[in-house]
Amino acid sequence: MLSKFEKRAEEILSKMSLKEKIGQLNQLETPVAQNLEQVKEKVRQGLVGSILMCVGATAGNDEQGAIDVNFYNELQRIAVEESPSGIPMIFGRDVIHGHRTVFPIPLAMTASFNTDLIEKSYECIAREAANESVHWTFTPMLDMCRDPRWGRIIEGTGEDPFVGAKVAEAIVKGLQGDDVSKSDRMLSCAKHYIGYGASEGGRDYHRAEISDYSLHNNYLPAFRSAIKAGAKTVMSSFNDINGQPVTSSKYYLTDILRGQLGFDGFVVSDFNAVIQLMRQGVAKTVADCCLLALNAGLDMDMQDNCYIDNLEELVKNGSIDIKVVDEAVKRILKVKLYKGLFENPYCNHIEMDRTKHLEAAYEMASESMVLLKNDNGVLPLKKDAKIALAGPFTYEQRSLLGSWTIDGKAEETEHFYSALKNASKGEIWATSFGGLNWDSTGKAMDWADVIVLALGESWSATGESRAVSDISISENQKDLIRKAKATGKKVVGVFFCGRPIAMQGIAENLDAVIYAWHSGSMTAKAACDILYGDVVPSGKMPVTVPRLATHIPLYYNVTSSGRPVNCYYGENPGACYVDSIPTPYYPFGYGLSYTEFEYENPKAIKEELSLNDLKAGESFKISVCVKNTGNYDGKETVQLYIHDPVASMMRPLRELKAFEKTEILKGEAKNIEFSLGFDDLGYYLSNGEYVVEKGEIEVYIGSNCLAEKMIVLKIS
Ligand code: GLC
Repeated sequence: MLSKFEKRAEEILSKMSLKEKIGQLNQLETPVAQNLEQVKEKVRQGLVGSILMCVGATAGNDEQGAIDVNFYNELQRIAVEESPSGIPMIFGRDVIHGHRTVFPIPLAMTASFNTDLIEKSYECIAREAANESVHWTFTPMLDMCRDPRWGRIIEGTGEDPFVGAKVAEAIVKGLQGDDVSKSDRMLSCAKHYIGYGASEGGRDYHRAEISDYSLHNNYLPAFRSAIKAGAKTVMSSFNDINGQPVTSSKYYLTDILRGQLGFDGFVVSDFNAVIQLMRQGVAKTVADCCLLALNAGLDMDMQDNCYIDNLEELVKNGSIDIKVVDEAVKRILKVKLYKGLFENPYCNHIEMDRTKHLEAAYEMASESMVLLKNDNGVLPLKKDAKIALAGPFTYEQRSLLGSWTIDGKAEETEHFYSALKNASKGEIWATSFGGLNWDSTGKAMDWADVIVLALGESWSATGESRAVSDISISENQKDLIRKAKATGKKVVGVFFCGRPIAMQGIAENLDAVIYAWHSGSMTAKAACDILYGDVVPSGKMPVTVPRLATHIPLYYNVTSSGRPVNCYYGENPGACYVDSIPTPYYPFGYGLSYTEFEYENPKAIKEELSLNDLKAGESFKISVCVKNTGNYDGKETVQLYIHDPVASMMRPLRELKAFEKTEILKGEAKNIEFSLGFDDLGYYLSNGEYVVEKGEIEVYIGSNCLAEKMIVLKIS
């Protein structure tokens, strides 16, 4: 796609001075009053290729000013009309899961397992942000993560590479559409390349140890998918892998990213990541940082001025070959041409009716929420039920939007009590807590037909530089749950969380559990409609829910031990720890409905194919009949896992290889069909070579990763 801009980029490059070339590699954060004139002068000289539309190193945590379209159009006018080559700047912003209309955090959207809806959500998101000068968003965040102590797990797609790849594709297509140069589309950015989600101990910005075998099979699939879907920018990650900072690694940034994944766009660093090479101990001076990063294949330097302050001297003294600079500049020019910036450098802002976006956000939130427990069908509630509503999220607004919500407005976000009040035909007694004024709360709970607890974690305990050592809710909330249970009434817990929390000692004390996540502008209405059954819940956990934080890491696609201790799958659970049972509280892919689904009659048209047949494009055709045997119409995410019991390298006990979310009416039975071809049945060797091997493949189909084995295929 970018090759068609090669000639034009060459022409532009040929007229540029060295200073201007280096300017294209330089990204600055939004100018503020104190430095506005200096920045304008730099733009005028062609020394700024891009503006990061935020101020500060952790934009997701700090209040950012609203976008002033005229301000950015004026900066762009200076670049286009007053700089020597008139090259437009590219404006990038962290539009992670919404702009003014906020959608669920990406981890929650992933829980919907509805990639069509995710794509539609990002179309809305692109429409709103592009209408406010944003050409380029630093999304999708594709850091596969098995450690929910890491605050940034909420920004990604959870623990599974296959789901990550499917969601990556949906986000890139939603943002870019068929023609990213259109004024309502945005360039995507696959980040953080690579391995940031393996940050040791879940502590942000820490080191990672990742074998090449794991890198290719667990961490790269989402990036392969994003690149295949058309992502033309990648953000390198802060972390190091096995002692090598990604920012200065030719192996990761060029040999693998470009050589093996075929990436042809440009790489932008993370914030100040180039200059941090000195702290990481691989560079002595800032100039060394610059030399290492550019030679590794890092094209654009975010905010630390390494390139703009050092590259000219490094080229002049022969330390850096001008060809390396030219290549980096050309990559950036081609992406700017691909986005159509030369033809349309300015934002023609229109007044936008967000009604349809809010409807889409509601639909996305409704499908993202996960019903984890519903003992004796306590849910859905009757509209005329007398409810005692208590907990810190009763009137909470800001946290419902989640982290990385730069343009969302808490004051516009409906809180849970308001949604319940509007929907209820009964009486609701509400308090923002309960523990403090227990006597009145206790009386209300005695009065009520049912107790609903609005629980969760603050948005500010999630996101960047927000790791936690214990993945839980506060002691006060746990105490409130215990007291509510002691009343003998039915107790429903609604969890407004970002990450999965350890449920031991919590879920046992509740009759029902709805995981509502931080689901954006429409969180409250969606959670309320699930509570009353106006929406039948259909989300599935994209991450394992552990019993205890001390069981981390605990993930479903684990390889088998040589001893009978595969506790994730219930094998001798007492043999793993002497003091606790490390089986998942809720396994990957788990989520209930108000109805029940039964799986029967699994079939494979052919149970044996030769390796050559598969290479020639044949695939195994598998079907299963799913019946809705309950009392509600519902949506089920039918999941197909494989296990390769004998291979040259150890393969996971379960690997998700297909899923289909489908509505099945009560009493209806549907035949769900899957196809497993060459690209589904193999794995990557440490050198990145993809192999499919002869032998058996076990197929498990069901409603979560503990699905039963249904078919055994044979590759001969
Ligand atoms: C931050 C984050 C990155 C974000 C960038 C720009 O430090 O790591 O995800 O896109 O800086 O705000």
